[in-house]
Amino acid sequence: MAMIDLRSDTVTKPTPAMRRAMMEAEVGDDGRLDPQGMGEDPTMNRLEAMAAALLGKDRSLFVPSGTMGNVVALMTHCRRGDEVVVGEKAHVLNIEKAIFEEEFFGLIPVTIPDPAGKLDLALLEKALKTKPIRLVCVENTHNFAGGAAVPPEHLQKVQALAHAHQVPVHMDGARLFNAATALKIEARVLAATVDSVMFCLSKGLSAPIGSMIAGTGPFMQRAWERRKLLGGQMRQAGVVAAAGIEAIRNMVSRLEEDHQKARVLARVLAETGGLKAPENFHSNMIKLDLTSLNFSAKEFQAEMAQRGVKVHIHAPTEIRLVTHKDVSEAECLQAAQIISQFWKERRREMA
Ligand SMILES: Cc1ncc(COP(=O)(O)O)c(C=O)c1O
Repeated sequence: MAMIDLRSDTVTKPTPAMRRAMMEAEVGDDGRLDPQGMGEDPTMNRLEAMAAALLGKDRSLFVPSGTMGNVVALMTHCRRGDEVVVGEKAHVLNIEKAIFEEEFFGLIPVTIPDPAGKLDLALLEKALKTKPIRLVCVENTHNFAGGAAVPPEHLQKVQALAHAHQVPVHMDGARLFNAATALKIEARVLAATVDSVMFCLSKGLSAPIGSMIAGTGPFMQRAWERRKLLGGQMRQAGVVAAAGIEAIRNMVSRLEEDHQKARVLARVLAETGGLKAPENFHSNMIKLDLTSLNFSAKEFQAEMAQRGVKVHIHAPTEIRLVTHKDVSEAECLQAAQIISQFWKERRREMA
């Protein structure tokens, strides 16, 4: 049976243009610097310059994963034992974890509710006034808030509060371009609200590997050193940078298609399955709460797999559907019908 894979946008395969660019990439040793401090891989240098210009930051740096990007950024801003404000549902806190684990990097999280992906501003201000906060972290789009796009107006308030206490702000923008697309603004408007930002090339943008971190010159110099310490420095990295260049050039503008497919999916789920509109639904993700079905996410996942749809478990009674380049609108429609059908059957059984 052909499966419709809605687990994540990380399942996207590189495009033929990416594969060609990878094959033809001009490369050098990215770990060796010339007297101007530039690595020797010309393709990587081009990608890093492009990403920095796109986000309006001084410099950017390629890292193998979003997790390493966040770790490098947080290690650059902080020292072991520093207190960091982070949303209760933040990916960096709940999934990546290592940065806050004593045996790894030992930062101390000061968690604040982040409904709809927005930090509670009153609690943020209180934390800044009462604790020696070293950094504030935000996330956009916000994964556990159902792909919520956090608007610049909120982020500017976070920035103003943090900066009033000389505290920098870091953004986990794994899906920054989804946020910008949903908000109909340039990504640089969101990047301007933070001191450092990470975004992934390997999610909806479909590159096989890699994320970028961007920030000011001195910060990025220290970040380069941190990345080296973590083993994130690579050699002929132009082979993957070439795909990243393609991703930035040609894949950002198509993210709206993914959001459109998610709207189709949500509409059909509501119309035919009677599922209520998902919370904070702005981009390419749909969260489904299974409590009304009295079904666990694990059971739901197994049932859907038998019916031809792959879904992702978000929480014990919550699943996530993500649209992306490698599912068509017709497949999204079909998946919505399969899920709706099951939903109705289950409701009937329970009645
Ligand atoms: C919001 C967010 N941040 C960071 C990451 C980590 O990215 P990676 O899987 O490339 O390490 C993810 C991955 O899904 C994510 O959703």
